Amino acid sequence: MQDIPVITIDGPAASGKGTIAARVARSLGFHYLDSGALYRLATFAALKHGISLDDAAALAAQAANLDPVFDGEKILFEGEDVSTAIRSEAVSSATSQVAAIPEVREALFNLQRRFARAPGLVADGRDMGTVIFPKAELKVFLTATARVRAERRYKQLVERGEAADLDALTRDLEARDKRDRERETAPLRAAIDAYILDTSEMDIESVEKKVLEWWQSR
Ligand code: CDP
Ligand code: CDP
Repeated sequence: MQDIPVITIDGPAASGKGTIAARVARSLGFHYLDSGALYRLATFAALKHGISLDDAAALAAQAANLDPVFDGEKILFEGEDVSTAIRSEAVSSATSQVAAIPEVREALFNLQRRFARAPGLVADGRDMGTVIFPKAELKVFLTATARVRAERRYKQLVERGEAADLDALTRDLEARDKRDRERETAPLRAAIDAYILDTSEMDIESVEKKVLEWWQSR
């Protein structure tokens, strides 16, 4: 485990973590961990099974037993393709409440660590560089203004045929970032040894190129 190369990509909502992490993983032939999908799935499962979002013990027990199947871009859960359902704004907001519960984070710790397999891993989330993979060889923290990030998320929703309101999205993203930053356990923040990149004015290709340059020059 210690010898497996790991690249962590953390940052606030819609900063481009997932897109960049998946591209860098593909380009290096590494595995990819979308840790947000695990928190989203734990929340989606709780909502589906009627578990109260205040019941830390029940949420943690369920998170510990999550057995998601990653099939390419798809995430299957209890035989259902939930890839789109877990990304709704309602699930996003509930997820940041569930993700603030220390017992839930603890329950998902080992599952996340197990993604580190040869030849290497690119992991994206909020605490990949600070808590889950503190010894990662390369740590990146992506940012962008709230407006740019809301515009990116807006485009994604419209492309998926979902109704979206840019002002409401901006407010939702800011509220979620605030909750993620201010929680006590594993708050959203850059590791002290992370490269910080403001991508507000950068396209996907330039961000990917920058990360690969850092990787090659490490
Ligand atoms: O794609 P987006 O950045 O909007 O969200 P995500 O990465 O799928 O994460 C959804 C939520 O899960 C975040 O707002 C966090 O509350 C939580 N999360 C976390 O606490 N720790 C992680 N490593 C990843 C996600
Ligand atoms: O994973 P995270 O929530 O941080 O963001 P994402 O889902 O990877 O990216 C959100 C949207 O922004 C996607 O549609 C990306 O294609 C787009 N994006 C962009 O336009 N420019 C970038 N530099 C990065 C992402």
